[in-house]
Amino acid sequence: MLKVGVFGVGHLGKFHLNNWKEIKTTELVGFYDPNDDIAREVVEKYQLTRFSDPEQLMDACDIVDIVAPTPMHFSLCEKAIRKGRHVFVEKPLASSMAEARELVKLVKESNVKLQVGHVERFNPAYLALQGTKLNPLFIEVHRLAQFNPRGTEVSVILDLMIHDIDIILSLVHSEVNNISASGVAVMTDTPDIASVRIEFNNGCVANLTSSRISMKKMRKMRLFQKDAYIGIDFLNKKTEIIKLKTPQDLDVFSFDIETPNGKKTIVLSNPSVPEVNAMRLELEKFAEAILTNTPTLVSEVDGFRAMDIAHQILQKIKHNSINT
Ligand SMILES: NC(=O)c1ccc[n+]([C@@H]2O[C@H](COP(=O)([O-])OP(=O)(O)OC[C@H]3O[C@@H](n4cnc5c(N)ncnc54)[C@H](O)[C@@H]3O)[C@@H](O)[C@H]2O)c1
Repeated sequence: MLKVGVFGVGHLGKFHLNNWKEIKTTELVGFYDPNDDIAREVVEKYQLTRFSDPEQLMDACDIVDIVAPTPMHFSLCEKAIRKGRHVFVEKPLASSMAEARELVKLVKESNVKLQVGHVERFNPAYLALQGTKLNPLFIEVHRLAQFNPRGTEVSVILDLMIHDIDIILSLVHSEVNNISASGVAVMTDTPDIASVRIEFNNGCVANLTSSRISMKKMRKMRLFQKDAYIGIDFLNKKTEIIKLKTPQDLDVFSFDIETPNGKKTIVLSNPSVPEVNAMRLELEKFAEAILTNTPTLVSEVDGFRAMDIAHQILQKIKHNSINT
């Protein structure tokens, strides 16, 4: 059994606790959280030991699970790696590129595994596409949320858009060639809403809109590739594919359209979406990577790359706002 210590048991940390409890290969040994009220509530509800010294908890576990606010990620990760502990850290990996770079270096020099909490990679609507060849030429993303003071210690780019940046980087196997971005700080001191265009060397273009000041929620990604349109609804866990019919498409729902190039047959399908809890699966897969000594599915390098693009976007937004 892998022993787990959770660092930060606020809003998301409690979800982590609930999920660790259900994972058969791990056991919770305790938590560290400096907030007395939150800690009292967790001790009562989960009958879990509260550690008053974070280092003591690190010494008592195999997995250090970091769900503290982003400004604390680096120091907790650094301590845990230096102690030879495996680290699961919520996104974003760290607060600055210098910190993220240092963490990548520390993991490389150590024998530990690190996974970043880019949980959308485990969203069932995305997993439904595992058997589908994805080679997007154009990507359109909308991630809209209502305002919530939690998470606002960082911009909407590091808070929300980073999920989509990570997915896009895992889908498009090409270097980023150009970024255009514009954003507005409405409720906080950093951008709360942003529109971004990322161009890749292979010609793929991704347009991303993220907002944390919207009236309604939306988490949708649309992929357009040579032969298909693919819609992923991360919020409602639905996936659809619309594509031209091929001889392999037997017993499928289809309809004909007259085009200037003759009749085309269109196939509409909804790949089956697995019934999984994304967070449980990401934590389970992390434990599995440790036990089988295989790479983590969202590594520190993935976390670094997503942060790198996020920071380039923030630079562009800053530059544009200075020049307007
Ligand atoms: N993967 C996702 O979709 C997702 C969603 C929300 C938040 N997050 C990330 O999770 C992290 C926590 O977010 P949250 O919404 O739970 O915040 P929160 O404010 O609700 O909880 C954070 C908790 O950490 C505690 N804390 C503060 N300093 C600490 C320290 N040094 N060591 C240990 N604990 C400490 C606080 O007392 C609080 O209880 C953030 O990094 C955030 O970006 C990820």
